[in-house]
Amino acid sequence: MEKLRHVAIIVDGNGRWAKKRGKIRSEGHLAGSKMLERIILHASRKTDIEVLSLYVFSTENFKRSKDEVDYLMNLFMKWFSVSSKKYKKDDIKIIFSGRKEPLSDEVYSSMKKLEERTKDHKGLIVNFCLNYGGRAEIVDASKKIANELKEGLIEEKDITEEYFSTKLYNKLPDVDYVIRTSGEQRISNFLLWEISYAEFLFTPEYFPDFDEKCFDRAIEEYYNRDRRFGNVKK
Ligand code: IPE
Ligand code: IPE
Ligand code: MG
Repeated sequence: MEKLRHVAIIVDGNGRWAKKRGKIRSEGHLAGSKMLERIILHASRKTDIEVLSLYVFSTENFKRSKDEVDYLMNLFMKWFSVSSKKYKKDDIKIIFSGRKEPLSDEVYSSMKKLEERTKDHKGLIVNFCLNYGGRAEIVDASKKIANELKEGLIEEKDITEEYFSTKLYNKLPDVDYVIRTSGEQRISNFLLWEISYAEFLFTPEYFPDFDEKCFDRAIEEYYNRDRRFGNVKK
């Protein structure tokens, strides 16, 4: 059976979920955040999964209306400040991937506090990709390496794929499985380096409808995949 250490979800379809019900987009985001909490808890009970990455806000999402961006930032902030108790009970460790700029200090400090409060937890690692862009992550890693080279700390021959990986936002195992809800079949700048050999599932449910049963079905599908990593199965 294939190993499943790192699952990554592109949380998509909140807006269309709301539209379908005659609601405004923010109601979709609120419903999506509630489902996300259920999915985090559910995933934390699956012993094989070590990391759950969640794409909740891309660097490109700042193109949306100020109202929508403000709503999402407030939702994140509220959520991060109340959820640490729950995460303690379930031993969930929260980390973040993404750039600081142009997040407000308020939002950024709520992220840092949650990271700090859960840093010794030993259960599921939840990697919130917030103000995250896959290309930005690769550029940021390249800049760190360029500086090390300039300072004479490393030589060109030291720059291997393994070394490059250590300069990404977090040291995590490669992504095994990417799930995108809402029927869209694209990556939208998510974890470009980390998904090089990942399996993919594009599933039609809008995220607020993507419940524990949908998650379990998705995981079952993964275990039927045959991963070869360029090799030939004996
Ligand atoms: C995903 O839902 C949440 C974020 C990107 C923040 P969307 O807001 O993209 O919902 P749709 O795709 O417009 O339905
Ligand atoms: C990708 O969803 C980003 C997140 C899920 C946070 P989008 O809804 O922003 O992606 P596009 O615009 O449909 O590609
Ligand atoms: Mg979308």
